[in-house]
Amino acid sequence: MGYKDVYQSWQNDPEAFWMQAAEAIDWDKKPSKALFERGNDLFEWYADGMVNTCWNAVDRHVVAGNGDRVALIYDSPITGTQSKTTYAQLQSQTAALAGALRAKGIDKGDRVIIYMPMVPEAIVAMLACARIGAIHSVVFGGFAAHELAVRIDDARPKAILAASCGIEPGRVIPYKPLIDGAIDQSRHKPEFTVILQREHGLADLRDGVDFDWHAFQNGATPAECLPVEGTHPAYILYTSGTTGAPKGVVRPTGGHLVALNWTMKNVYNVNPGEVFWAASDVGWVVGHSYICYGPLIHGNTSVVFEGKPVGTPDAGTFWRVIAEHGVKSFFTAPTAFRAVKRDDPKGVFLKQHDISGLRAIYLAGERADPDTIEWMQNLTGKPVYDHWWQTETGYTIAGNPVGIEALPVKIGSPTVAMPGYDVHILDEGGHEVPPGTLGAIAIKLPLPPGTLPTLWNAEDRFRKSYLSHFPGYYETGDAGMKDADGYLWIMARTDDVINVAGHRLSTGGMEEVLAAHPDVAECAVIGVADDLKGQLPMGFVCLTKGVNRPHDEITRECIKLVRDQIGPVAAFKLCAVVDRLPKTRSGKILRRTMVQIADGEAYKMPATIDDPAILDEIRGTLQTLGYAKERQPS
Ligand code: COA
Ligand code: AMP
Repeated sequence: MGYKDVYQSWQNDPEAFWMQAAEAIDWDKKPSKALFERGNDLFEWYADGMVNTCWNAVDRHVVAGNGDRVALIYDSPITGTQSKTTYAQLQSQTAALAGALRAKGIDKGDRVIIYMPMVPEAIVAMLACARIGAIHSVVFGGFAAHELAVRIDDARPKAILAASCGIEPGRVIPYKPLIDGAIDQSRHKPEFTVILQREHGLADLRDGVDFDWHAFQNGATPAECLPVEGTHPAYILYTSGTTGAPKGVVRPTGGHLVALNWTMKNVYNVNPGEVFWAASDVGWVVGHSYICYGPLIHGNTSVVFEGKPVGTPDAGTFWRVIAEHGVKSFFTAPTAFRAVKRDDPKGVFLKQHDISGLRAIYLAGERADPDTIEWMQNLTGKPVYDHWWQTETGYTIAGNPVGIEALPVKIGSPTVAMPGYDVHILDEGGHEVPPGTLGAIAIKLPLPPGTLPTLWNAEDRFRKSYLSHFPGYYETGDAGMKDADGYLWIMARTDDVINVAGHRLSTGGMEEVLAAHPDVAECAVIGVADDLKGQLPMGFVCLTKGVNRPHDEITRECIKLVRDQIGPVAAFKLCAVVDRLPKTRSGKILRRTMVQIADGEAYKMPATIDDPAILDEIRGTLQTLGYAKERQPS
């Protein structure tokens, strides 16, 4: 069957399609059906099935006789270490940690925050939670204490599992002070922490509250896998929305297992036993789905890479890892390859490694620019597949279903909708637009298994964010179009979310931080185009009347404030003081126009603008920052 037949078979009978896909999962109790309609546009999958994620990702492979197969390859150029973990070892490690957690009172449904760098113990921590039905929430190490505190207050975890430090090029980041700082700030207080001590930076542990990772597990009775309902939350992953309050995306257990397993062959074209590598971080959805769960559920070997595309030690690292470990499918963000291209445009490093075993390269997380795709294709001779998805879905909405049929690549398009996704392009009024016309990208409900059924403790926000704008549809927050062949083209976000080096960030959240500066009366943050990171945040602040301090002092404080409150990952380094912000007559800040001016795009003078002269002032400021190359309004 080709792609069209498979997609059609799903459309004809979604229930049969998803029940068949569910056959690949070991259920403790098989679900009687796939879809459960809960009314009011809410849906659940496999609700009456009982299943355990860790069993499916680990134990069942051991039981099937594959205990000696390598589950995880840890490759850490930043520390100069490598190790391998077999499925049998992973089973005993997760059982031991799960047992110790249970002995310390962690039960089904309890939340556990994981704050760890790219070490195999991070995967063990996730799986150990899944083993006993605890709900993990992994927080990316590049977020500051305040962001961690916000997540602690929302998820209300009983425990935090962490490492003593993360390692960035040229510096060690002690995690314990960040955790302590977060707990100081949060209203909810976790009961205890378990800390993996890394030799690069040891943490001070307080008696009875902070436990050493290894000592904590000593003597604990290993835990068996606890079957949970198909709808039980496997994890909560916070992602950026329009405000500073992150959205807690809930991942349901049953659908997550079925859908991820389906994608490993159909999207990534790997067979069990083969090596799959997603160069991302466990703190992001790509890390959840394709460093931890997807490859393990499917019985693949997953690479846990602690390093950067460049500088650890050079732009040949990706090629070395692919060659050394026999990677068959490689997945990363376009920005990573832009970094490699910048350092090694001629691919000198590639020549030192044999990547003939690699079948294809997959890109997601941000728009893949045609230059980078073409460069990669020419250099490697491998197909490069863009695919489009979000934290909310957890896996591909649109991609090239290579395991079914490799469709022709149209550079700039992530290809076509996957089975399960009925993707529509709508105008403001919710009407379908003709092919080739730009509109809001929406998915007809129900979303397929594994996608978010709601937001953690925030069903109203879930409805408001995703379901209310286009009744009967899920609003993706992306704008784009479909061409006559049904290929999708993702053009821009329709909200205040920006994408910095493949990391999703909220400009609204940054504005909240700037607005808290005592000298700032008003502010705006926009995302401007950047050759390396795709987008960079840029802040404009208007000062409170009477403030007379040097502007560069204030902007330095603003930059530090965002770094301290949100984290270095926000990469907020561009900030300017302006007299006024451009607004409509009703007072709405014209952020979109500011972005167009910054990026040197043609723009239309907004009809409702209050004072057009302000745009010239903004252009002047942008030019001093090296942006807004001359163009006149059309
Ligand atoms: N813990 C602490 N700090 C972190 C961190 C972590 N886990 N990850 C990043 N940071 C810090 C960096 O050290 C940097 O700090 P600095 O301002 O002091 O230099 C800042 O956050 C920005 O980091 P990063 O986005 O990694 O930018 P960079 O300039 O250091 O490197 C790239 C540029 C392109 C090499 C890098 O962004 C990259 O590897 N991108 C790939 C992204 C990716 O895999 N995304 C996954 C989504 S699919
Ligand atoms: P995240 O939830 O962090 O994965 O970010 C999801 C958002 O990243 C999407 O809504 C898009 O805006 C953007 N994105 C992800 N993949 C792609 C892609 N292949 N092309 C264009 N934009 C993408």
